[in-house]
Amino acid sequence: MKDKIREIEKSAVEEIALAADADMLEKARVKYLGRKGLITELFKNMGGVSSSERAEVGRLINSLKVTASKAFDDKASAISGGRDLKCQKVDITLPGIAREIGHLHPISRTIEEICGVFISLGFKVVEGPEIENEHYNFEALNIPLEHPSRDAFDTFYLADKWLLRSHTSPVQARFMEKNNPPFAIVIPGKVYRPDATDASHSFMFHQVEGLVVSDNIRFSDLKGALTLFARQMFGETTKMRFRPSFFPFTEPSAEVDISCILCSGESRSAGHDSRRCSLCGGKGWIEILGAGMVNPKVFKNVGYDPEKVTGFAFGMGVERIAILKYGITDIRMFFENDIRFLRQF
Ligand code: PHE
Repeated sequence: MKDKIREIEKSAVEEIALAADADMLEKARVKYLGRKGLITELFKNMGGVSSSERAEVGRLINSLKVTASKAFDDKASAISGGRDLKCQKVDITLPGIAREIGHLHPISRTIEEICGVFISLGFKVVEGPEIENEHYNFEALNIPLEHPSRDAFDTFYLADKWLLRSHTSPVQARFMEKNNPPFAIVIPGKVYRPDATDASHSFMFHQVEGLVVSDNIRFSDLKGALTLFARQMFGETTKMRFRPSFFPFTEPSAEVDISCILCSGESRSAGHDSRRCSLCGGKGWIEILGAGMVNPKVFKNVGYDPEKVTGFAFGMGVERIAILKYGITDIRMFFENDIRFLRQF
């Protein structure tokens, strides 16, 4: 009986070890550990064992059962582990998965381009808060409460004196309070106005503000800097037009136009509507920004001596620049984030 037990143990371990797949292993399990298996059979034959040997034989069969069970468990997990590995096997002959790398949003890109031109002229980039108060958005910039021009900067109000800035100009005052001239800065950022959204209006858009202050800054410096900017942005043949205008924080003020980048002013003489340029409407000029010499009152408000310093400032809409540069027809495209639109940049 003991020999038989040893024999069965040897062959059970062997057969389980040799099982190449789950089917073969299952057959081995049934053969040895099954309800009618060889080990069960051994237990049944205990009746024929002499009482003196019974305890030892019982122990031997038990230990055989433990050994066979363990061999079976080990093998089962080896086989299923092997199956996992098979699934994970990498076929290095398959084409790889190309990971698409994103790129800057056209607005971010345009901001970088605009600032880049001014950085090359020695300007530094400065930023300020989008949640502003009435002081910096208006008063510091010489826009008193009852001033009609306050309507032009229609504003989203928050609690108390807080609001969403309606232009980037408040950062002019914030910067001047903390820094002394000479300096040249550009200020990119989001601004907010409660306009009904349509093809050319959005309640949120971006501006880049410029501010240069020193002891002898003249209007010709403003013209020179903006002309260089426009030529870098829209091409060397771009012509400039400075129209007298009004902003409370600059004096004198100008609205700056560039020659139409679509018709170069050619359609101006066209008599018939249908032949008028779709971009400038036949005017030949397109407005791109507002500018002027910093109003002495603004210098006073920030603690500068208007007798000692002069400066120029300008502010442009980034969406407008991007629309002109890339021939986009609807400002809403920038914010819908349709991948088919964004991919083109
Ligand atoms: N802040 C003005 C606007 O939003 C633009 C501007 C800036 C004009 C600086 C003159 C000087 O319309």
